[in-house]
Amino acid sequence: MSRAAGVSVKLGSWAEVSAQAAPIRFRVFVDEQGVPAEMELDEFDGLSCHALAWMGDEPVGTGRLLPDGHIGRMAVLAGWRGRGVGAALLEALMAEAGRRGMSRLALSAQSHALGFYTRFGFVPEGDQYDEAGLPHQAMVRML
Ligand SMILES: CC(C)(COP(=O)(O)OP(=O)(O)OC[C@H]1O[C@@H](n2cnc3c(N)ncnc32)[C@H](O)[C@@H]1OP(=O)(O)O)[C@@H](O)C(=O)NCCC(=O)NCCS
Repeated sequence: MSRAAGVSVKLGSWAEVSAQAAPIRFRVFVDEQGVPAEMELDEFDGLSCHALAWMGDEPVGTGRLLPDGHIGRMAVLAGWRGRGVGAALLEALMAEAGRRGMSRLALSAQSHALGFYTRFGFVPEGDQYDEAGLPHQAMVRML
């Protein structure tokens, strides 16, 4: 698995990470992918464990783990993709799920990212569907 040289991932509550994580999500999902801005932040942010990836003093990626074992809002700034940042985020969230005793992880993958999640043991479940105007695929992984 590729690793980004110098990436560090911190876990925290929404109160602890939102100042850095929210701008990343707006840049990636709203500005880049056209997701409606009003859909980006939701009531699950306050309930989730968030991962924030740093390259030095620059926040470059984020993702979250919901209390029910759903992983979501995985976003790496465009200029930092393909360097292992997403892998570091996903592995940090999977490790946290293990610490919490979760046995099954689930996520709603954008279709273009299926290959990314497959590398980490997630498998498709059911048919593709539309979410926020983008094609998605449910994926699951047992821990
Ligand atoms: C999906 C995303 C989080 C991946 O982050 P990333 O930092 O580019 O991923 P990494 O560099 O850590 O890649 C890890 C591995 O997955 C592979 N990979 C990354 N993106 C992939 C993709 N879209 N399809 C297939 N494989 C992919 C990499 O080649 C790498 O493989 P390797 O270990 O064999 O070298 C990032 O592309 C992103 O933020 N995209 C825009 C937002 C988005 O669509 N998020 C997903 C919502 S479900």
